[in-house]
Amino acid sequence: MKVLVTGAAGFIGSNFVIRSRQVRPDWQLTVLDAMTYAANLSSLDPVIDDIDVVKGSVSDPAVVDELVAAHDLVVHFAADSHNDNSLEDPWPFIETNIVGTYQLIQAVRRHDKRIHHVSTDEVYGDLALDDPARFTEETPVNPSSPYSASKASADLLVRAWIRSFGLQATLSNCSNNYGPRQHVEKFIPRQITGILDGVKPKLYGEGTNVRDWIHVDDHNDAVIAILEQGRLGETYLIGADGEMNNRDMIALILELMDKPADWFDHVPDRPGHDLRYAIDSTKLRRETDWQPTHPDVRSGLEDTIAWYRDNQDWWRTAKVVAEARYERLGR
Ligand code: NAD
Ligand code: TYD
Repeated sequence: MKVLVTGAAGFIGSNFVIRSRQVRPDWQLTVLDAMTYAANLSSLDPVIDDIDVVKGSVSDPAVVDELVAAHDLVVHFAADSHNDNSLEDPWPFIETNIVGTYQLIQAVRRHDKRIHHVSTDEVYGDLALDDPARFTEETPVNPSSPYSASKASADLLVRAWIRSFGLQATLSNCSNNYGPRQHVEKFIPRQITGILDGVKPKLYGEGTNVRDWIHVDDHNDAVIAILEQGRLGETYLIGADGEMNNRDMIALILELMDKPADWFDHVPDRPGHDLRYAIDSTKLRRETDWQPTHPDVRSGLEDTIAWYRDNQDWWRTAKVVAEARYERLGR
């Protein structure tokens, strides 16, 4: 099978390609990535001799048409992905996440191929802290930020193309990922790399906001399970029951890195900051044989901390840029 993976010089996509080489060595993989600030081609070093890499944008119809025609399946990770950046400059989020998805599904439809659209639980907005509910596939979209609104828009396009044009597609909405090769602008790697440099973690507001953490390999195993066992036209929520508030996450990182529990700074909150995300992944577990293999966030985090400690060349340049941006934002 010839698989086109978009956005695979980024965090989840690079881990997907590495994982796929291990568990599906017969797949022929091509990466399409625009190599934005969020990309790091060296993430693909472990598999670079076994894959093709094309530099180009998912919003470029000519590039997309040619590549989709030459593959059987598209796994679509490419996105502008950071909420804080979307508050500063929403346009790249509209262009990549909405227009790029439009170009891909038009090409998939023209050439009668299949696509899996990778999305986020953030399209559902947030839950109250004291609400026992979790998101399901039936939860209405209600996004809060330009990032989540652009992802919700893309999801709706894919769903409409399924219904109106019979597009051969599946969708997944996953909770917050952690693991190796995540950009240092994101919460967990920002704190780990800061601590390695002697800088205190930065907690937005009071830190009571809850995220439902999942190891990136568990996310990618679920995507593979959906590709092979999911039903066309369906949406699957991916989560590993990893709810934790940001204060507790910082406390855990501090403990694992031998720092005192109170060694962190409060910084001003993010505007519109979603309170809580939580995933009910019953449908995925019922319809596929997927199970998380890293259900314990503590041990997954230990490995992640070791990866950032051992791969400082991978993140040092991006760290300087990301922290300059946070300084401008006062966070
Ligand atoms: P990332 O920012 O680490 O990587 C995104 C990649 O997409 C980068 O390599 C970037 O260069 C590429 N890209 C950006 N614009 C492009 C364009 N126009 N054309 C081609 N490539 C382009 O993001 P990530 O965290 O790996 O997220 C991947 C996907 O998973 C996104 O669709 C995101 O919405 C979704 N998702 C992420 C999380 C999470 O916790 N990170 C959770 C659920 C879903
Ligand atoms: P983030 O990794 O940006 O993911 P998302 O906004 O998609 O959930 O942030 C995760 C949580 O951590 C979110 O509630 C914001 C918070 N946060 C901090 O408290 N400090 C930080 O330095 C960052 C980057 C995020």
